[in-house]
Amino acid sequence: MEFAGQTAIVTGVAKGFGRAITRRLARGGARVVAADINVPGAEETVTLVRQDGGEALAVQVDVASAASVDAMVKTALARFGDRVDILVNNAAIWRLVPTDELSEADWDRIVDVNMKGVFLCCRAVIPIMKKQRRGHIVNIASIAARNGGTFAGLHYVASKGGVLAMTKKLGKELGQFGIVVNGVNPGSSETGMMVGLPPTVREGIIKNTPLGRMAEPEDIADTVAFLASDAARFVHGETVEVNGGILCD
Ligand SMILES: NC(=O)c1ccc[n+]([C@@H]2O[C@H](COP(=O)([O-])OP(=O)(O)OC[C@H]3O[C@@H](n4cnc5c(N)ncnc54)[C@H](O)[C@@H]3O)[C@@H](O)[C@H]2O)c1
Repeated sequence: MEFAGQTAIVTGVAKGFGRAITRRLARGGARVVAADINVPGAEETVTLVRQDGGEALAVQVDVASAASVDAMVKTALARFGDRVDILVNNAAIWRLVPTDELSEADWDRIVDVNMKGVFLCCRAVIPIMKKQRRGHIVNIASIAARNGGTFAGLHYVASKGGVLAMTKKLGKELGQFGIVVNGVNPGSSETGMMVGLPPTVREGIIKNTPLGRMAEPEDIADTVAFLASDAARFVHGETVEVNGGILCD
């Protein structure tokens, strides 16, 4: 098992991609700290991991709060020993609002969760990974940062553009410490974030996708597992597009 003996922290695990990522890393042998603002949802994910024969711990976190993120990492260390081998920054929120109707409060919350959350979680684990001289960080961005988004507001698109840029900067800064940093840019998927997509939008996405379907959570989870593993040891500072070819020109 590629992650045997390793500890992973995954944020935003109560459903969608985060749940699939948690189950995939645990199937690979990782002990997973399954963190979410929604504790019952995180606990459901942990139950599924245990049914799969894996090990995980549900932890409450608001990734936009430094105190909450630091407490999450403290809990991880206390439960699984003084290691964090993998961090997956997946938690995010989304809204579609025309820019001229977008409130400052709405902008601030989305940017705080989606972008500042990545900073806070990285800041909390980097000292541990530096000490280990080893670690993998995987940031989940979005195709919206590449194409302006089909169904997302300016704040979401901007926050994900920030995640792409942070993946480059963190790659530059942390490679010398043996910390490998990469990202995944998922295409549209009918997970929580996109549930209730108008049929015309859905059909349009599928029509423009050469592989003829939307992303499944497992498509994202398998790519995260690759980037979090030694198989990706020389892939660094990159964000992998996982979208069925919708960006093919
Ligand atoms: N679904 C898509 O089509 C799509 C496309 C591109 C990128 N993405 C990205 O993939 C990731 C997962 O998307 P999803 O569709 O699975 O989303 P989702 O809404 O199903 O899951 C997001 C999870 O994050 C949690 N969360 C929200 N705010 C939080 C906070 N402050 N602290 C901790 N946890 C919090 C939620 O409770 C939820 O469990 C996100 O980063 C999203 O931006 C999704």
